[in-house]
Amino acid sequence: MKKLVIQGGKKLIGNIDISGSKNSTLPILAATLLFDEKVILKNIPFVRDIVTMCKLLENIGKKIIYFSKKNEIHIFPKKNKKFIAPYNLVKTMRAGVLVLGPLLSKYGKAQVSLPGGCAIGTRPVDLHIEMLKKMGASIEIQKGYIQAKVDKKLISTRLNFPSISVGATENLIMASVLCKGTTVIKNIAIEPEIIDLVSFLKKAGANISFKAKRVIIIKGVNKLNGLSHAVIPDRIEAGTYAVAALITNGKITLNKIDIKNMSNIFTILQSCGAQIKFINTNSAMIYRKKNLHPIKIKTKPFPGFPTDMQAQIMSLMCLTKGTSYVQEDIFENRFLHVSELKRMGADITLKTKLAIIKGVKSLHGAEVMATDLRASVSLVLAALSTKEKTVINRIYHLERGYENLVQKLRKCGAQITTINA
Ligand code: EPZ
Repeated sequence: MKKLVIQGGKKLIGNIDISGSKNSTLPILAATLLFDEKVILKNIPFVRDIVTMCKLLENIGKKIIYFSKKNEIHIFPKKNKKFIAPYNLVKTMRAGVLVLGPLLSKYGKAQVSLPGGCAIGTRPVDLHIEMLKKMGASIEIQKGYIQAKVDKKLISTRLNFPSISVGATENLIMASVLCKGTTVIKNIAIEPEIIDLVSFLKKAGANISFKAKRVIIIKGVNKLNGLSHAVIPDRIEAGTYAVAALITNGKITLNKIDIKNMSNIFTILQSCGAQIKFINTNSAMIYRKKNLHPIKIKTKPFPGFPTDMQAQIMSLMCLTKGTSYVQEDIFENRFLHVSELKRMGADITLKTKLAIIKGVKSLHGAEVMATDLRASVSLVLAALSTKEKTVINRIYHLERGYENLVQKLRKCGAQITTINA
């Protein structure tokens, strides 16, 4: 079983090149099912979730060539198609449900394993299903699978999401682009990863426009043209390494970032005293001049504070003098890192969706367990703050979404190794 061993207590100083966004790549990969031509994707992070999604596409009927040194993949259509997303692939990567919209739109049928819950919650897909039904799909759940089909073609219509969902927004946009007529979708999520999916589809010939902040209009087209597209930088990875600079009182320059997509994360970091020196639109230096101060935050859909940064900011607040309040309003169970941080000496009290964190002078090293992608990295950040040794188990969670994490941190002076034990 692979583990991470970290001996922290050192200031991290140096440069980190941020990889492409995992959460932008996943829907764009699913969208390639809408194409009959070759698609080239650049700035792709070679992390486990991407490999799993590519396996899923190959399973359905795509030929994929990987250029890992260039972070590039070429996706070609194949004749034979299987319209199934099997449990063994979807169970480890819930984004597999994103093939549902494209398959229904292009081929009129799909069998997609229910993603099942995961550590951070039940992760239902009822919004995906309800909205696709409104477009004419007939969908049943049988033996853990979403059995979906449409007699002729999905019908364009007016949709209004009762609550904001990133994945459901992506699925319905993909379901609509080849759908005759005009689809209007209200109350959509507007994360940068969704904007990147829209720009990818528009470059391929889709007719998509925004009527208002959360209202999108999609006029169906007959086909999408092959193209080459570089995905946006990973704002959550960048935010994670920004916290690494702050928690070790170091100085890290983040390169290959997209400043405009970082503003909500940078604003929160600045609100607790972080210094951010903008070098140009693609790089910024993160450090702190004096002690940080506590904060009160709630996770919200973009442009609010992202839930994917909640665990990381909590690690930072564990060492920030005073009392901080972190409220998780997106997922019902995204505090699994709390018990592990407490084993490292953190002073955190949980009240349902609210974590009350009292800053302590220092954390202790410990043997801890990763539970989900962002909880795992919050333990890495906590471990980097203390001279004592920390061992992190189940690091396959980390490998799902952080490309070359060990190398990137080592480059800034971290004492971190992977062991097989
Ligand atoms: C995406 O997940 C991201 N994953 C998540 O990142 C991110 O935390 C989340 O959006 C919120 O920003 C990818 O993009 C691959 P949602 P998604 O649908 O689409 C409820 C990471 O760490 N909901 O916006 O699954 C849901 O339970 C991952 O990279 C329904 O009730 O999130 C949650 O409470 C973790 N019914 C809320 O909505 C539905 O049909 C937001 O979920 C769908 C969602």
